[in-house]
Amino acid sequence: MRAVVLTKFGKADQAFEIQEREIPKPKDHEICVKAEAFGLNFADVMARQGLYNDCPPLPAIIGYEVVGRVHEVGKDVVDFKVGQRVVSLTRFGGYAEYAVADTRATVLISEDMDYCLATAIATQYSTAYYCACYTTQLHKGDHVLIHAAAGGVGTALVQLAKNSGCIVYGTASSEKKLDYLRGLGVDHPINYMTSDFEEYIIRKSGKNCIDVAFDSVGGRSVKKTRRLLSEGTGRIICYGAAVRSGKRKGILGDLKLVFGFGFIPTVELLLKSQGVTGVNMLQVADNRPEALKFCMQEVSQLVINGKLKPTVGGVFSINELAKAHDFLGNRHSIGKVAVYWD
Ligand SMILES: NC(=O)c1ccc[n+]([C@@H]2O[C@H](COP(=O)([O-])OP(=O)(O)OC[C@H]3O[C@@H](n4cnc5c(N)ncnc54)[C@H](OP(=O)(O)O)[C@@H]3O)[C@@H](O)[C@H]2O)c1
Repeated sequence: MRAVVLTKFGKADQAFEIQEREIPKPKDHEICVKAEAFGLNFADVMARQGLYNDCPPLPAIIGYEVVGRVHEVGKDVVDFKVGQRVVSLTRFGGYAEYAVADTRATVLISEDMDYCLATAIATQYSTAYYCACYTTQLHKGDHVLIHAAAGGVGTALVQLAKNSGCIVYGTASSEKKLDYLRGLGVDHPINYMTSDFEEYIIRKSGKNCIDVAFDSVGGRSVKKTRRLLSEGTGRIICYGAAVRSGKRKGILGDLKLVFGFGFIPTVELLLKSQGVTGVNMLQVADNRPEALKFCMQEVSQLVINGKLKPTVGGVFSINELAKAHDFLGNRHSIGKVAVYWD
């Protein structure tokens, strides 16, 4: 089979090589999927830049999700059959024509579901669901702040928050993305490149007005966002550090990031009745696979019922992988980006 191998960290057009590899064998509880396409995630960009702690040692086949047909099932698998069309979360190995996946991280999809839309279910929508519906609860009328709201996870969070009747503040880096957010129903789209989101929100709705915030930018963004949290109900869910992207790897950068996040005395959370939650879906997959299964199944049902609608942000052929990486890494993408095999 063909596999895209990350052979060195750096620019997208130099980091990957297509190589011939053996088709992987599924373990007892796994399936092997013959992929028609795989999804890109921002973690792939960070991995390619050498900034992703969980990336396997090089040379590595990265990639978190594939859409395709079940090619082989492990001996304990009873709920999937060869030939069925599925989307699977792959926990690396996704940038290949065949990939293995745990059945608990796999859902059936219809024959006619768009492959790019299907890839969004695996990592981005399941992460959003875990953040917004598993670790916390959104209530009607809650003021919800979502950073990088036009991205893959961001789009899903906006849809989940609007479905719950929340008042949504969404940040993004361009006017085009702000228009997109208006289309999703975001009540307060904010260009955080041209205005200070903290000042903007205080001006619009007053101090301490945010009930729930979702932060994937990391660093100082978290400190500023925490200052907006309401006392009594304020919660922040931290699930990324996109701000690290494009920066040089090294201890200084790491320290700047860590200090940017700030240090939070637990007693302050107690006195203010606030919460801070960190999310790493790899930890969830490893230690609570049933939680991941629950989130994937819930999300796929909501997509099938039309309650959630992933946005197809860009599709690229395998020969355009570098272009796809730059599209996502250079902040041009909206919604989901996928790559198909041809
Ligand atoms: N913790 C977990 O388990 C988990 C799981 C999935 C995803 N994530 C994280 O969630 C975030 C969203 O993932 P995604 O795959 O849906 O990606 P995405 O949101 O589609 O793309 C990343 C977005 O981050 C924003 N961004 C902010 N600062 C940036 C910077 N310095 N450089 C580049 N982009 C920057 C950009 O939006 P603007 O241009 O609008 O700022 C960019 O479009 C990422 O940070 C990812 O690592 C975490």
